[in-house]
Amino acid sequence: MNGMTDGKVQGTATGTPVSDGELREAIMRLKKEKNAVIMAHYYQRDEIQEIADRVGDSLALAQYAAETDADVIVMCGVHFMGETAKILCPSKKVLIPDADAGCSLADSCDPEEFARFIAEHPGHTVISYVNTSAAVKAHTDIVVTSGNARKIIDSLPADEKIIFGPDRNLGGYINSVTGRDMLLWPGACHVHDRFSLAGIEELRAKHPGAKVLVHPECRKPLQIIADKVGSTAALLDYARKSDAGEFIVVTESGILFEMRRECPGKVFIPAPAEDADCQCNMCEYMKLATLRKVYECLLSDKPEITVEEGLAEKALRPIRRMLELS
Ligand code: 13P
Ligand code: SF4
Repeated sequence: MNGMTDGKVQGTATGTPVSDGELREAIMRLKKEKNAVIMAHYYQRDEIQEIADRVGDSLALAQYAAETDADVIVMCGVHFMGETAKILCPSKKVLIPDADAGCSLADSCDPEEFARFIAEHPGHTVISYVNTSAAVKAHTDIVVTSGNARKIIDSLPADEKIIFGPDRNLGGYINSVTGRDMLLWPGACHVHDRFSLAGIEELRAKHPGAKVLVHPECRKPLQIIADKVGSTAALLDYARKSDAGEFIVVTESGILFEMRRECPGKVFIPAPAEDADCQCNMCEYMKLATLRKVYECLLSDKPEITVEEGLAEKALRPIRRMLELS
């Protein structure tokens, strides 16, 4: 049975991997046996990004999922990312290391309330951020991520009436850079919404040459002081190409791992949150995945993401449109 005996992976000292090294070895073996691919978002723990076959932002993860020929996808991210992968690949097994990895932004948009909001504003094209449940996507015309929202919205006629949900900060940013007047759903991410402007100004005073990199899920005053506003992948790209030596990073601190890996001579400073003593801002949902949980989910094929067929069909249309327009 796939190199396993009584739920144990052969080849480690005790049969059950204990150390991180043993866990990594067991994960690699199981991955091969099951023809699995491990995908990880930039906000994952360093050790998860290290073992992943693919690391990316929300857009890249959806694109990788749409293209992979693996039989099993282990999505090291949050639930909506696993759900998007499952909708794109209904015949594949999609696993998530911890079933409690939710998203406060996705939770800020109840599908029934969203449907009522749409009904109250007829004649609007509905655009939803990928950070939503399948049920919200089913009410949507086009899904976007922070990496392609501007491009997709720019591709629509200037007079098209648009509802944008659920992130009010990203929606406000798109309105300001495109001159649109999209109707915004009042949702937000608890991590990005709590960065401290005063704390960032203090850091800037100490590091006058530093560039400020801001994710568009942050509030407007932070977007205004930014040298670059963009998705995690866009911020990484900016840091890679910039001549600057220091960067204040105003997004979830997991991205620092890839920034430091790709730009070894540069200094990356995590921005503080309003209510935190530490200089970091973490998404507790993103940090739920651990090496042990990745090993256990590959071993047991659980937790598995499932999406009811009718719902998946409805949610697939706007995701496909996004991939076509990206
Ligand atoms: P991106 O991956 O699009 O940068 O979004 C960040 C995020 O909050 C993912 O949950
Ligand atoms: Fe959701 Fe915010 Fe965590 Fe991203 S950082 S997964 S938007 S709660």
